Amino acid sequence: MSKRIRVAVLMGGVSGEHEVSLKSGSGVLANLDADKYVGQGVTIGKDGSWSLDGGEPLEMLKGLQQLVSETDVVFLALHGPNGEDGSMQGLLHLLRLPYTGSDYYASSLAMNKPRTKDVYVCGGLTVAPHRMVYAGDQSQLEPLAEELLAALGSPVVAKTTKLGSSVGVGIARDAQSLARLLADYLQFSGEVMVEQFIKATEVTAPVIDNPRTGRCEALPLVEIRPTVSDWFDYRAKYEVGGALEICPAPISAELTTECQRIGLLAHRLLGCRGMSRTDILIDGAGVCHVVETNTIPGFTATSLLPQAAAQAGYSYSDLVDMLLQEALARHR
Ligand SMILES: Nc1ncnc2c1ncn2[C@@H]1O[C@H](COP(=O)(O)OP(=O)(O)O)[C@@H](O)[C@H]1O
Ligand SMILES: [Mg+2]
Repeated sequence: MSKRIRVAVLMGGVSGEHEVSLKSGSGVLANLDADKYVGQGVTIGKDGSWSLDGGEPLEMLKGLQQLVSETDVVFLALHGPNGEDGSMQGLLHLLRLPYTGSDYYASSLAMNKPRTKDVYVCGGLTVAPHRMVYAGDQSQLEPLAEELLAALGSPVVAKTTKLGSSVGVGIARDAQSLARLLADYLQFSGEVMVEQFIKATEVTAPVIDNPRTGRCEALPLVEIRPTVSDWFDYRAKYEVGGALEICPAPISAELTTECQRIGLLAHRLLGCRGMSRTDILIDGAGVCHVVETNTIPGFTATSLLPQAAAQAGYSYSDLVDMLLQEALARHR
């Protein structure tokens, strides 16, 4: 048997998505093709310490040193800030360690929602209208909130540009609650995006770069349908049973083609590699509003992208293999 490839699966991390990431990483480790790969889990603690293969927590620099000497390729199963936002990718790039998924540049671009929307718009895609609020505006938040509601209509969705999933997205129907959200979010980030609320069917469009064919492939769409509310109820989406995930999404063939085209285009416009998952809101008139592109989406066997890959005939372990091969080919 030829020498097996040494894979380090990076998981955990200091972001709010620590637990989800541990699940993603454990799934990857358990599904490495044992003929080709030998895996070790690298868990980054909430305190920033690094633990290799269940060993004693080490300070980051020591952990990195060990990682570099024992690893051929890193599988990044980190989500959110410091994992998905380009910082870890930049670190691994400088260390000349191949890693899965998008590079530091595409990762940081995709993490910033308003910058991402600018790129979508340049590429001819439709996005929800929005206005930006900056930290310097803080003294007059309530009149500002009134103006925003007058311009965008009610309700609006406010989003921070720094925090990742589930933290820093909120809905407001009146000036008072919008002003409260703004004050809250401006503490975390210098800018807040306030978007028109789109009443819509929500689908997500997963894309992979398939190293076996050399092609970028749009996978089947997944519809995410909240079950506990007929309008946007954000928290419900993250509770077990809070939303149905239907794959392939039961929408028309035309809309399917259009959303897959959008997923592919978003992937390319942002410069993503390996995989991405673009969220799209389809309004009542059939207009597709692109929301965001996730560069390291949830990656347990039952997460949305792996589910879509399974529909397309790629097992979870195939998917892990494709991402690793794509990473190795790119860094060769
Ligand atoms: N403009 C909008 N109109 C209606 N719903 C929205 C809008 N923006 C976001 N949402 C809802 O909020 C969810 C989270 O927003 P998103 O921008 O994807 O942030 P996150 O990084 O938390 O996933 C979306 O999946 C969608 O259900
Ligand atoms: Mg999202």
